[in-house]
Amino acid sequence: MSDAPPTLAIIGGGQLARMMAAPALNMGLPLRLLAEAEGVSAAQVIPDHTVGDYRDLDTLLAVTEGCSVVTFDHEHVPTEHLHALEAAGHSPRPGPDALLYAQDKGEMRAKLTELGVPCPRHAIVESVADVEAFGFPCVLKTTRGGYDGKGVWVVRSADDCTEPFATAEKAGVRILAEELVDFRRELSALIARSPSGQAAAYPVVQTTQRDGICHEVIAPAPDLSAELATQAQQAALRVAKELEVTGVMAMELFETTDGRILVNELAMRPHNTGHWSQDGAVTSQFEQHLRAVMDLPLGSPEPRQPWTVMVNILGGDPEAGHLYDGYPHAFARDPKLRVHLYGKEIRPGRKVGHVNTYGDDLEDCLERARHAAAWFDGSLGNESE
Ligand SMILES: Nc1ncnc2c1ncn2[C@@H]1O[C@H](COP(=O)(O)OP(=O)(O)O)[C@@H](O)[C@H]1O
Ligand SMILES: [Mg+2]
Repeated sequence: MSDAPPTLAIIGGGQLARMMAAPALNMGLPLRLLAEAEGVSAAQVIPDHTVGDYRDLDTLLAVTEGCSVVTFDHEHVPTEHLHALEAAGHSPRPGPDALLYAQDKGEMRAKLTELGVPCPRHAIVESVADVEAFGFPCVLKTTRGGYDGKGVWVVRSADDCTEPFATAEKAGVRILAEELVDFRRELSALIARSPSGQAAAYPVVQTTQRDGICHEVIAPAPDLSAELATQAQQAALRVAKELEVTGVMAMELFETTDGRILVNELAMRPHNTGHWSQDGAVTSQFEQHLRAVMDLPLGSPEPRQPWTVMVNILGGDPEAGHLYDGYPHAFARDPKLRVHLYGKEIRPGRKVGHVNTYGDDLEDCLERARHAAAWFDGSLGNESE
């Protein structure tokens, strides 16, 4: 037996890397981090970190020295750098050929269509005339660089197209037009896949976005037919296999008012719609991601109880008080509450944490989670003053 466990390199110092650190600690798995800046969320908890730019190949090579496996907190590492890491003997997981479809929504649409996976009607548009030909109303998206609803616009007229095209031109990316889907709700199918090809599928969840940001998740999705749930899981498993995805992958979906499932987008890393699994599943998505990228046998994705609800905590007024002021109230009211804070500075609208509740009664779980999140985001505390 060798005396040192392998070190896993993580690129990106956000909350996803931070939440990978907890199971890594339990598993005795050393981590090395490339952080954007000193003091960012994951750098606070991973001592072996370097501050640098993930767009710089020399930095990536220096950080990953001695780490055979490299994984990611975000999807923004340039494809050519991922190939260079491979050429240097590292295994980026997911690999560059898979990650492309999480980086570029245009490439993702083309690939899913080729695989026969149902998607909203879509086209790459180069001008307002193209959008007019596609038809209003529709959704315009920058093909790269968007997140949390940034880079997504619902457009109803030629005038509405000015900002999207200006944004895309400035960023040097293309624009994807999509039909405005009349959805009943949004769902997410989270799976994990290892390099050996083992896969695990979590229950399909319901997700509610507010201003493009994931706000609330219910696991499993209430009243989802077994047929649609299986369809969603199978689509996610199939796409992961075809694209040779390694690690956790989330497939964001629309359930249409006429009972179909369409794919919105793919994320190839732990995902906000999987945070419920930290307290609601036998194996959390963060541990599952570590197991998958290290090519260890996967853990059970089974739920531990009938319902789990996750509500995000978004930054409110930075002057209103500290996030931690929520603890006495939230903990006193609900001894079963689970809280996850990311160590981030409060900025209005920024994701700074989330809460999970679980139990037998969905309405009770929803009420408790919403109430607790409101203590942390300051909206309850402010109301009572
Ligand atoms: N074609 C569409 N029709 C209706 N709503 C959409 C469509 N595409 C995106 N949305 C809404 O915008 C949100 C963000 O879009 P998405 O492409 O997932 O961007 P992001 O990369 O910011 O998550 C979605 O979760 C959904 O609520
Ligand atoms: Mg999305």
